Amino acid sequence: MIVRNAHATDADRLAELSAELGYPVEPETISRRLRRLLKNEEHLLLVAESPTDRIVGWIHAAQQDVLEAGRFCEILGLVVGSGQRGQGVGRRLVEQVERWAHGRDLSHVTVRSNVVRPDSHPFYERIGYSRLKTQHVYRKRLAPEK
Ligand SMILES: CC(C)(COP(=O)(O)OP(=O)(O)OC[C@H]1O[C@@H](n2cnc3c(N)ncnc32)[C@H](O)[C@@H]1OP(=O)(O)O)[C@@H](O)C(=O)NCCC(=O)NCCS
Repeated sequence: MIVRNAHATDADRLAELSAELGYPVEPETISRRLRRLLKNEEHLLLVAESPTDRIVGWIHAAQQDVLEAGRFCEILGLVVGSGQRGQGVGRRLVEQVERWAHGRDLSHVTVRSNVVRPDSHPFYERIGYSRLKTQHVYRKRLAPEK
């Protein structure tokens, strides 16, 4: 298995895996977002590809800059295909993000993990992450996404 940067042509498979994450998004929408994100050097999008050239997982991370917290790396999305879990793919993807963050001199990596994702909690703890807090997330819609 290799880990590589995502390409614009990966959109269909990324959309399939996003659906497994609970975000059913049209491939065209993923494609549009992907093309935008790939141009932004403060974002990292990686895929794990099996020897048969099939993408089995992806991770999206970004450099954040927050007044009260400073500069850090945040994992914004991670999914490994349901048939490929438990084989070290998620760990490899997170390790690559940590390497990227280290190279940018960022002090730490954070991730917010929804309480409805029971798989991810023991996973993050197993790979060295500590739980800091539990929070509510609020949203107000202003306009349709462009
Ligand atoms: C969470 C997820 C990314 C983990 O990916 P994965 O490829 O299965 O994880 P790995 O095989 O790399 O596991 C790394 C370590 O965590 C442990 N681990 C992973 N999932 C676990 C679970 N559900 N329960 C207990 N331990 C777990 C593994 O046993 C392994 O430990 P080891 O190195 O001692 O053997 C994957 O289960 C997934 O995509 N889940 C659905 C989406 C999701 O929750 N995403 C996270 C959003 S924040």
